[in-house]
Amino acid sequence: MVTFLTTCICLGIISFILFYFYLTRNFNYWKNQNVPYFKPNPIFGNVFSVIVQKTSINGYLNFLYKSNSLPYIGFFIFDQPSVLIRDPALLKRILVSDFNYFQDRSIMHNEYDKYTNNMLFMAKQPKWKILRTNLSPAFSSGKLKHMVGLILEVGDDMVNYIKAARLNEESSDCRNISIKYAIDAIATCAFGIRTNSHQNPEFAIASKKLLEPTPLRAIQMAAHYFAPSLVKIFHMTFSDQDSCRYLEKVLLKSMRERENVNTSRRDFMDFMKEMQMKDSHFFSDDVLVGIFLQYLIAGFESTGGTIAFTLYELCVNPTIQNRLRNEILTVLAKHETLTYEAIQEMTYLHMVIKETLRKFPPLPFLDRVCNTTYTIPNTDIAIKEGMPVFISLTALHYDEKYFPNPMLFDPERFSPENKSSITPYTYMPFSEGYRNCSGIKFGILSMSIGIIKILSNFEVITCKDTPTVISFETSGFLLTPLSDKINVTFRSLNP
Ligand code: HEM
Ligand SMILES: *[C@@H]1O[C@H](CO)[C@@H](O)[C@H](O)[C@H]1NC(C)=O
Ligand SMILES: *[C@@H]1O[C@H](CO)[C@@H](O)[C@H](O)[C@H]1NC(C)=O
Ligand SMILES: *[C@@H]1O[C@H](CO)[C@@H](O)[C@H](O)[C@H]1NC(C)=O
Ligand SMILES: *[C@@H]1O[C@H](CO)[C@@H](O)[C@H](O)[C@H]1NC(C)=O
Ligand SMILES: *[C@@H]1O[C@H](CO)[C@@H](O)[C@H](O)[C@H]1NC(C)=O
Ligand SMILES: *[C@@H]1O[C@H](CO)[C@@H](O)[C@H](O)[C@H]1NC(C)=O
Repeated sequence: MVTFLTTCICLGIISFILFYFYLTRNFNYWKNQNVPYFKPNPIFGNVFSVIVQKTSINGYLNFLYKSNSLPYIGFFIFDQPSVLIRDPALLKRILVSDFNYFQDRSIMHNEYDKYTNNMLFMAKQPKWKILRTNLSPAFSSGKLKHMVGLILEVGDDMVNYIKAARLNEESSDCRNISIKYAIDAIATCAFGIRTNSHQNPEFAIASKKLLEPTPLRAIQMAAHYFAPSLVKIFHMTFSDQDSCRYLEKVLLKSMRERENVNTSRRDFMDFMKEMQMKDSHFFSDDVLVGIFLQYLIAGFESTGGTIAFTLYELCVNPTIQNRLRNEILTVLAKHETLTYEAIQEMTYLHMVIKETLRKFPPLPFLDRVCNTTYTIPNTDIAIKEGMPVFISLTALHYDEKYFPNPMLFDPERFSPENKSSITPYTYMPFSEGYRNCSGIKFGILSMSIGIIKILSNFEVITCKDTPTVISFETSGFLLTPLSDKINVTFRSLNP
């Protein structure tokens, strides 16, 4: 009996020690390569604070960035050696020149999730290349010009809602309003349906729920970045499945309707139906649903959130607001209708949007995974196959070396004279290179129209609930203001 007990205890201790060695087997990786790194703890490595949501993924990357001034810094995600790149010249290599090694994101491609399975953001090579090549023409300027009219209608819905329900109300959440506008813009241009979420919030509620970082959803999303084995064990999904199913139903209905009537809306739906006609094998209904949901997921919070951050900066900087409104009204007076070309004339508007995206890049970090061992040029440092590589956009955008007085909202940084003095690869809200944001032009167009519509109808002023500084949520992977609200007051310009 005693020997049995001792045997058990011994075996227990031995397996514990073996397990400990297993978990910590990689912990000398950065030390051996002479790369500065943070000492990891068994089990979580360096990411305990992220897993318990004390800090966001980007919050931790920011901390790493600030901790030294070398080109790179090592850390551990559980037992996986990982690296944050700080140096702009090395960033150029990873995103552009040596892209061949870093074609995929580290975020897991999850085949249990039927919906994200076909999304460009998650797709790995070689599937990614096929999707990206086929979808690029959908976003050309020529195609976007035809969507201006559709987006303007949606902008009018927003203005009418503010006039009827929120005008002169002491405190209105402009983030809620602009996100609904952004959802409506994607719904009309991609799904081919008019939603008016200000009146009928059903579609917007489902969209918003897709990535809402409830405690459970936040864990599942973080696991896609940091713990793919947990995703496999528990069959986790990246986005809310009920919302996906609801949106899929809406989409399929719209697709079937499009087959029976010859509309010529010349929107994304028309484009995708053409693709399906050419190659119905690859572009099955499931793939199309994934692509449309991808537009929604990637587009609504990024564009709607940026409109809200812009309105925030404009109400705390009234001089900038007035100058922008003057430009908008001057260009509008010159043109009979608001066209794509008229919007391009608004130089100051684009400077303001750029500065907002500097302070608030909606996707605040980039990630890649190395596909074969990559040696950092002029060093012997190896980035091994499978190693995640991270880039913090906020850390770069707030680095005083590149953007003096970073807290100051100063659109002049992006004036035609000044913009060439920005160090390449230190400002990249849409990223750079082959895997950059594929919705840049659509995003800028719908943000521009939203801001034009609001500023040409209303004055935006601070109210008692307007935050003095914006702080951010620590869950989820997007840059979300605390409590998901930004409150302001809307005043009519022509009472
Ligand atoms: C303010 C607006 C937006 C910002 C700041 C933004 C930013 C980004 C960033 C930083 C990435 C990651 C790029 C990388 O890893 O190198 C990305 C990827 C992507 N974005 Fe956007 N985005 C915006 C709007 C949109 C819109 C409106 C759409 C679609 C209609 C869209 C579709 C995508 C897609 C499909 C990807 C994945 C591209 C790929 O993997 O090939 N984005 N976006
Ligand atoms: C992996 O990287 C190498 C780098 O030379 C590249 O040639 C190759 O195409 C990449 N393979 C995949 C599957 O991405
Ligand atoms: C912000 O505005 C919304 C209405 O848009 C309101 O419900 C809320 O109470 C306001 N205040 C705060 C602090 O969120
Ligand atoms: C807008 O606010 C309502 C009420 O607080 C909420 O139910 C809804 O999800 C919000 N919508 C968006 C898009 O933020
Ligand atoms: C739609 O137009 C195409 C070509 O213009 C034509 O072949 C097709 O029969 C039309 N379908 C309907 C339902 O009118
Ligand atoms: C931009 O340029 C103007 C004039 O050329 C200069 O006064 C200003 O300091 C510059 N601002 C920044 C942020 O570089
Ligand atoms: C983004 O990608 C597209 C397509 O690969 C490319 O044409 C464009 O130049 C890229 N933009 C940047 C800023 O790298």
